[in-house]
Amino acid sequence: MQRTLVLLKPDCVQRRLMGEVISRFEAKGLEIVAMKMIQITPELAKQHYAEHVEKPFYGGLEAFITSAPVIAMAIDGLEVIRVVREMLGATSGLKAAAGTIRGDFSSSRQMNLVHASDGEEAAARELKLYFGDSEFCDFNSPM
Ligand code: CMP
Repeated sequence: MQRTLVLLKPDCVQRRLMGEVISRFEAKGLEIVAMKMIQITPELAKQHYAEHVEKPFYGGLEAFITSAPVIAMAIDGLEVIRVVREMLGATSGLKAAAGTIRGDFSSSRQMNLVHASDGEEAAARELKLYFGDSEFCDFNSPM
């Protein structure tokens, strides 16, 4: 079992696509074990996108990711890091295959609706940026 960090980005929230995207994860049988709406600060953006801070597109990316609230989610499942990335499709909505979330709803490299951790190391690091250990819920356990 793996856990990954997923962000529904400002464009997803503003375009009222949150339910559509969450429905896809639920229909796939994945387990959303934590979820919150937050406003990303420039400081958090620099931590989250540390590997991109020096890239030419970072200024635009920071302006975008801090422009409106996001939904942060922790999702559990078998091979969930790969499974979610495949459900998102290629980074650019212009290149993502039809049937993927970005392929179906995005026509932009930057405003690509959803972020998901790209490996186990990134998932562990990114989950810590958004959630404390006590915030993960197991809704399959008996009450
Ligand atoms: P994400 O999967 O969150 O990881 C880094 C983000 O940077 C990416 O989605 C896009 O939102 C953005 N991004 C990546 N490449 C480019 C690019 N060439 N131009 C603008 N934004 C980009």
